[in-house]
Amino acid sequence: MNTSNILLLIIATQALFASVNLAFDDSENALKSQNVLSKSEIIQLNGAIGPESVAFDPNGEGPYIGVADGRILKFQGSYWTDFAVTSSRRENCTLPFAPEMEHICGRPLGLRFDTKTGELYIADAYFGIQVVGPKGGLATPLVQKLEGKPLVFTNDVDIDDHDDVIYFTDTSTSSTSNKITIEFFKFGNGKCIVEAPFIVQQLDDLLSGGLLHATAIKLSEDGRVLEVLEDIEGKTLRSISEVQEKYGKLWFGSVMMPFLGLYGF
Ligand SMILES: *[C@@H]1O[C@H](CO)[C@@H](O)[C@H](O)[C@H]1NC(C)=O
Repeated sequence: MNTSNILLLIIATQALFASVNLAFDDSENALKSQNVLSKSEIIQLNGAIGPESVAFDPNGEGPYIGVADGRILKFQGSYWTDFAVTSSRRENCTLPFAPEMEHICGRPLGLRFDTKTGELYIADAYFGIQVVGPKGGLATPLVQKLEGKPLVFTNDVDIDDHDDVIYFTDTSTSSTSNKITIEFFKFGNGKCIVEAPFIVQQLDDLLSGGLLHATAIKLSEDGRVLEVLEDIEGKTLRSISEVQEKYGKLWFGSVMMPFLGLYGF
């Protein structure tokens, strides 16, 4: 990664935090948040929990989600089917939620399709970046180490279709400082580290006001806040981790809930 790329990524990160601050702190300029997300619908997962990431394939099918037992599921309109896995050693991966098994079963946290090839890129917390073809099945490891060091907790992945570049993040909290460290990697070219100036609890309080409630912020390409939607009391949506806009609806993933949230405008 060259210097200008590192700078760009740092600026992008600061812009994101500034936007979050703007939405919460600058009451004169902030857009009024709309407390509408409690009207969201719920799509139950039946025997699975924690659909952190939500992705649609290039044909618009899905959504696809990664759940806590290590599977990647595909929504078929009214039911879910198994699409892919990140581990071949799955004979004991029978419980919907078993943290002690995650290092064997995998935990696919980030999902993104390459719109040109239809391949699905997966950020698995334990196995790094993997890729699987459009028909699914067992994914293939792509990045497990960077600069000789194993990835710690691969969290999300994104693809820049214009540049054919994969970006991904590795999150860790250092036991000494308790600071959140988000490392941005550009596949094949190195990394930059951004240390958030909050300890974990402060960040949680800033984003949630100490309560588990859902907030979705729509940003413009240059980082301005366009819209803020919330479920302030956490009636329907809590602990959401990702939002995708598709078919005029917002699709909400959650690392802890046994359902997908769906909000129609
Ligand atoms: C599954 O469980 C059995 C019985 O405890 C054990 O012998 C086997 O090694 C386990 N397999 C994996 C992949 O962990």
